[in-house]
Amino acid sequence: QARLRGVVALDGPSGTGKSTVSKKLAAALGATYLDTGAMYRAVTLAVLRAGVDPADTAEVVRVARAAELSMGTDPLAPTVLLEGAEVEAEIRGPEVTSAVSAVSAVPEVRELLVALQRELIAQARTDPGGMVVEGRDIGTVVVPDAGLKVYLTASADARAARRTAQDVSDGRVSDLRSTHADVQRRDALDSGRTVAPLRQADDAVELDSTELDIAGVLEQLTKLVESRGLLV
Ligand code: DC
Repeated sequence: QARLRGVVALDGPSGTGKSTVSKKLAAALGATYLDTGAMYRAVTLAVLRAGVDPADTAEVVRVARAAELSMGTDPLAPTVLLEGAEVEAEIRGPEVTSAVSAVSAVPEVRELLVALQRELIAQARTDPGGMVVEGRDIGTVVVPDAGLKVYLTASADARAARRTAQDVSDGRVSDLRSTHADVQRRDALDSGRTVAPLRQADDAVELDSTELDIAGVLEQLTKLVESRGLLV
């Protein structure tokens, strides 16, 4: 069984199937997995629970610094603990989803979470198995020396349809029109922010998943990992 060596950085907007393929790739290659979006979501949940306005930067920073966040990196059972309690379902809800762009645009929040991400990644570099890290700024900011950087895209229509299907399968109420609007709103916010905006790293491989299913994307990723000599 071949295992990954080093770090695979997977960036791109939401609804590209990024989380699903990242977890599957990590599991197939005996690697760990880090969902950095879940970290921004967990801090956003802490902000909302504290009754803080996500637009109140000073208060957001205060809550973020006080929050106790712990990430489990098993791709078969990734966990997010906030103050010691599992929040995996809650961070995917509509309240967090609509506030997360504001929270993740705050430079001090990013500084804090990037430091935490680098700690978790440093551990994975020395362990056998490596790590698959997904987010928006992994290839550009968090791990600029990743062994492979992939920028996963898909048309806005395809992404909205996938988000809706994901919501329905997770038991959340969802409709295509409002999801489409939300996907576009978050794209604009994530790409337009000043600090670490969503963008493709110069040395990232772009992979368009509009016409590919999960298995098709995985096949392409596995080929890329192999061609970079990242398997041991
Ligand atoms: O991947 P996701 O939808 O769970 O991410 C949630 C939000 O977090 C997304 O709107 C952008 C932000 N994010 C970020 O700014 N940087 C990352 N590395 C990951 C996510």
